[in-house]
Amino acid sequence: MQTTFTVNGKNVTLEAAPNTLLVQALREQMHLTGTHVGCDTAQCGACTVLMNGNAIKSCNVLLAQAQGAQITTIEGLAKPDGSMHPMQEAFKNCHGLQCGFCTPGMVMSAVNLCQQKPDASAQEIRHMLEGNLCRCTGYQNIVVAVQQGAAAMKA
Ligand code: FES
Ligand code: FES
Repeated sequence: MQTTFTVNGKNVTLEAAPNTLLVQALREQMHLTGTHVGCDTAQCGACTVLMNGNAIKSCNVLLAQAQGAQITTIEGLAKPDGSMHPMQEAFKNCHGLQCGFCTPGMVMSAVNLCQQKPDASAQEIRHMLEGNLCRCTGYQNIVVAVQQGAAAMKA
């Protein structure tokens, strides 16, 4: 079956079996491998992308459900000149990552979080990121990065 949607600003039509997951289509058909697969069971958040501006776990959504949607992956966050999004800059500046496996999903969730609640407290950030698991950092630097990224996004 065919699915037509927008990925990082480009119109795309993909042919795939009806049970194809959005994350499979992004990684295997579009080669957007910045979207990671950590668990495949909607628990870790490594596969988080934006669908119509909302953070979703793309291992838990069928490609067919993306019909007509606007999808943004980590590859689509950079500015037109190729420079990093303020949230990516903040993660870099605050050492909000170690191995980096969770980072694309964490950044996508953080962008969505800051759009919904630009003045979120550290406690609120921890609560809102509870669907994104990190094995390395202990989260402290991630929370600081999200606060810095939120301030930069507002500016
Ligand atoms: Fe989707 Fe873990 S791979 S939530
Ligand atoms: Fe390694 Fe988060 S930086 S899992």
